[in-house]
Amino acid sequence: MRVILVGFGVVGQSFAKLLLSRSADLYSQHGIKPRIVACVDNRGSAVSPAGLDLERLLAAKKAKGTVGAYEKKSAKFDPLQVIENVEAEVVIECTPTDLSTGEPGTSHIISAMRTGKNVISINKGPLALAFPSLIELANYNGVMFRFSGTVGGGTPILEFAKRCLKGDRIISFQGILNGTTNYILSKMEEGLTYQSALLDAKEKGYAEAKPELDTDGYDAAAKLVIMANWIMGMKVTMKDVARTGISEVSVADVEKAQSRGNAIKLIAACDSRRLEVKPTPVSKKDPICVNGTLNAVTFSSEHSGSQTIIGRGAGGMETASAVLRDLIEIRDTIFER
Ligand code: HSE
Repeated sequence: MRVILVGFGVVGQSFAKLLLSRSADLYSQHGIKPRIVACVDNRGSAVSPAGLDLERLLAAKKAKGTVGAYEKKSAKFDPLQVIENVEAEVVIECTPTDLSTGEPGTSHIISAMRTGKNVISINKGPLALAFPSLIELANYNGVMFRFSGTVGGGTPILEFAKRCLKGDRIISFQGILNGTTNYILSKMEEGLTYQSALLDAKEKGYAEAKPELDTDGYDAAAKLVIMANWIMGMKVTMKDVARTGISEVSVADVEKAQSRGNAIKLIAACDSRRLEVKPTPVSKKDPICVNGTLNAVTFSSEHSGSQTIIGRGAGGMETASAVLRDLIEIRDTIFER
């Protein structure tokens, strides 16, 4: 499996570390030996058809702030040229999410698909803004498009709904889709201020490059859009979501909810009439009332009733494990063909 890694931030670097630590069991259990043949960040690139030395790549990034420092003479820096010209089976798109333009992720994904490469994205922007056309482009070019890490961090929320519940009809779902805001709200319950909890979430690598995407509810709305399209077959984008963030939630609101046996959570909800993200008091007895960076979603289905999936919703290694899951699945599908 030759892989081009586009974006080398928290998740990209975690993915490289995961490959280093899992190489033996990836081969023995899944018959897969992923080779990173190119890596691009916002300042440079490194290319090696034989496979980049990942320890050296991580060291170059740490020392000089760019993978361009991998070789003395850096490879030419043009992400689109690397994506189009380097031979590979898979492109992993890990650049930061931009929910206004979807760029540069959308252009990366389009050029990968047009040159016949399968795509894994953890970048939510392209999917939240152009889900139907990207699926169409993947189908047109006969490539696979996987995006497990866009929702739920390491928790397979998309797979749970799409595969495990496929014998039933999901009527609605609701839950917590953003780890950063859940972390902040949980810490506020413990007595921390909003600002210090946010700082903590940034330091731990949970928050987006622009943390307003988390606190203003855009990140949860983007995930809601991805789920509504993929799971419910709706054709919706960000503008269809009624969105309220958590910046107006006060310590008094948190305490009032607590005194009634509730907790304030940023709840994302979808049914046939609405797509909504807003701070909502949730009973502490409700299974979706989880703390820290956990995500939790309850799906209500026609025949099998309510089912909840809970797991870590943010973090570098967590999301990198979702990328690896997608990579193994792409490999298995190629193998079956
Ligand atoms: N910033 C996101 C969150 C990262 O806090 O949930 C995972 O998508």
